[in-house]
Amino acid sequence: MSRSVNAADLSRTFTREFEVDGDKCLVIHQSEIGDVGCVVWDAAIVLSSYMRTNDFILHDRRNVLEGKRVIELGAGTGVVGIHAAALGAVVVITDLEDFVPLMQKNINCNRAAFSHEITARPLKWGENQQEFLPPPDYLMLADCIYYEESLDPLVLTIKDLCGPKTIVFCCYEERLTDAKIALEMKFHKLIDKYFHVEKIPLERQDVHFRSEDIHILKMRLKK
Ligand SMILES: C[S@@+](CC[C@H](N)C(=O)[O-])C[C@H]1O[C@@H](n2cnc3c(N)ncnc32)[C@H](O)[C@@H]1O
Repeated sequence: MSRSVNAADLSRTFTREFEVDGDKCLVIHQSEIGDVGCVVWDAAIVLSSYMRTNDFILHDRRNVLEGKRVIELGAGTGVVGIHAAALGAVVVITDLEDFVPLMQKNINCNRAAFSHEITARPLKWGENQQEFLPPPDYLMLADCIYYEESLDPLVLTIKDLCGPKTIVFCCYEERLTDAKIALEMKFHKLIDKYFHVEKIPLERQDVHFRSEDIHILKMRLKK
């Protein structure tokens, strides 16, 4: 089940720019009108920025994303997946059908930054995830924990898309209403059943784009 959404209005957008590697600049269109996915959320900026840190990107001086398969869930504008593509990954960004045109627009605007394929496709949590197999190397999601009915299908989708080697990065903003606190607790209970979960400490995150109330979880399927 998902909420009814308003599609992004592509005739009325405003942009936000992100520097990658010092030489590439990504331009992300956000829609003035539409549902929550029409704009870039802070958790997406924190996760995108973390991807550029040495803590994430370098292993034995090699770029861990180069040529790796990445799927982003609930991508909205597609900003996280677009960062991963600009850092060398082969990416599929996904969201509800209504957001595919906005994601596609953002892919088209940043073509020069990509060395591998990046596509935008519909994926409704709990539904057609088999079409996205084999499991990706990385599964990314930012600010996707925000309404009760979606929690079970979201966790099911994460679990079903993962293989034994998939690494999930889930970034979310802590919100302090009773309902959101309960939601976050429920999410943790669900993921703890299936995943080993490590929280990336603040000091390993990007020095400029990090926040006490935004968390990055690194998860792997339990055997
Ligand atoms: C708060 S927005 C975050 C967007 C983007 N990740 C960011 O952080 O900028 C949540 C996203 O989840 C998507 N979403 C909500 N329910 C969904 C569902 N059932 N299946 C797939 N995507 C869903 C929304 O369309 C929206 O783009």
